[in-house]
Amino acid sequence: MTLREAATAVRERAYAPYSRFKVGAALMSTTGAVHVGCNVENVAYPEGTCAEAGAIAAMIAAGDTRIAEVCVIADSPEPVPPCGGCRQKIAEFAGQEVKVTLCTTDGKKKVMTVAELLPGVFTSAHMDRA
Ligand code: THU
Repeated sequence: MTLREAATAVRERAYAPYSRFKVGAALMSTTGAVHVGCNVENVAYPEGTCAEAGAIAAMIAAGDTRIAEVCVIADSPEPVPPCGGCRQKIAEFAGQEVKVTLCTTDGKKKVMTVAELLPGVFTSAHMDRA
């Protein structure tokens, strides 16, 4: 199963009754394992979580810690970009060169790197004087 197929399958399980915008994310960790997540909304809207955050949580729960590749898919006119918070979450576990493939359910695709998604990322090095 490709990352795109895994993201497509988990997207179907998204809980998005408020936005009606289902998102699926699949990531491969550096061990080669695939971890998936979907968005999970809440009636208290800010409590909802993004698909990418779910996939990262699944990766950590499974014992992996580094991301090799990411794929995100949604039914949107253009490939869906991760929100700002998810860019920072991905950057916590991925190198700057890691590929993030943004997909639409009708076959559009845009490949970006973590560096392109989050230029000027905040890292632990910025806290070196703390
Ligand atoms: N969403 C994601 O899960 N990932 C993204 O990359 C963009 C947005 C979700 C959050 C919310 O449940 C819905 O899409 C609408 O914002």
